[in-house]
Amino acid sequence: MIILAIETSCDDTCVAVLEIRNSKTELPFMETKVKKRTKFSSPFEIRSNVVSSQVKLHAKYGGVYPFLAKKEHQKNLPIVLKRALKEAGNPKINLIAVTIGPGLELCLWTGINFAKELAEKMKLPIVPINHIEAHILANFIGENSKLQITNYKNIFPAICLVVSGGHTQLILMNPVRNRKSSNGVKKFGQYKILGETRDDAAGECFDKAARILGLGFPGGPIISTLAKKHRQKYTGRTRVFLPRPMIYQKNYDFSFSGLKTAVLYDFKKRSSKVRRSKKYIEEMCTETQQAIIDVLIHKTLKVAKDYKAKSIILSGGVAANTELRKQFQLTISNRQLAINFLVPAKNFCTDNAAMVAIAGYFKWYKKKVWKKIKANANLKIDEKL
Ligand code: KG4
Ligand code: ZN
Repeated sequence: MIILAIETSCDDTCVAVLEIRNSKTELPFMETKVKKRTKFSSPFEIRSNVVSSQVKLHAKYGGVYPFLAKKEHQKNLPIVLKRALKEAGNPKINLIAVTIGPGLELCLWTGINFAKELAEKMKLPIVPINHIEAHILANFIGENSKLQITNYKNIFPAICLVVSGGHTQLILMNPVRNRKSSNGVKKFGQYKILGETRDDAAGECFDKAARILGLGFPGGPIISTLAKKHRQKYTGRTRVFLPRPMIYQKNYDFSFSGLKTAVLYDFKKRSSKVRRSKKYIEEMCTETQQAIIDVLIHKTLKVAKDYKAKSIILSGGVAANTELRKQFQLTISNRQLAINFLVPAKNFCTDNAAMVAIAGYFKWYKKKVWKKIKANANLKIDEKL
């Protein structure tokens, strides 16, 4: 089975082609057959995964400008599709998967309309995909991933921390292995949102802090690089102190807008000489990053303990942050917690269509005729598609 996936929920135009390597494994949950019939632990082969980033275009606005993003998607989609198909060896496609939400409405519709045209032309069904679920399922990518379809027992229940530019959510995940959908295929993925940000997302906080400090867009990777420089020179100790919002509150929610405001106040009270100094900027980057990491790790470990989770599954663009990945792993091993820590390779943390294709595999029982597919900018992971 070959799945063609399209992702345009924000500012990246993405198309991927995924092959399900053993035709006998076309249905999810045929674990024993997968084990016996194939030497691969993963039945997924990403034949192509093309991402066309609009970062340079939006950098001058310090954030994503939806109307411009839509126009870019329209322009780029045919080019990205052609390249993805060529790289994949122009295979016969069996199914189309497309992100329908959450995301920027204008951008979502561009991908959906493009998918509809293809589906009509190629006479194929479409599977509607939730962007947040796709981020989580990116953890299936790679032969070395701890999450394989042959290995559910040791992974679930899991706590998923999804951290991106638009979302910061703690989600309880179970595989739901026994319930069947109306057409007889076993369902995969049951989710319950336990907590989320009440205002800005973690990625948004990185982006806004970078903007205040006069750095570029997106802020996450820039702040991470400057914090690393500071650590190399001064072992990471800083003279600035930022708050860790809601860290000790009993709920599982987050709030990052106050942190951004604290960055702004600290910046404003400095002389223009200090503001322009490399040392101050690098210190602010270090402290901003550490404040976000402290809150994310503390709250995630708390919810994992409360729900007796066997794993923590990290995903979303902010999961590409080297320090966050390192400190999660280190905290778990220092405290000798019996918990798996899963995170995709960095290029599968930020938006891509390979993760949408993987979600397409698990959700193919939800396939619809193209006419019924609609965008839903505020789609929740525990909501019916
Ligand atoms: O998942 P994603 O690519 O798009 C959304 O669905 O929002 O996430 C983008 C976010 C941006 O806010 C960006 O600053 C952040 O992920 N990000 C990072 C890093 N790479 C991307 N944040 C911190 N460290 C990084 N290395
Ligand atoms: Zn995303």
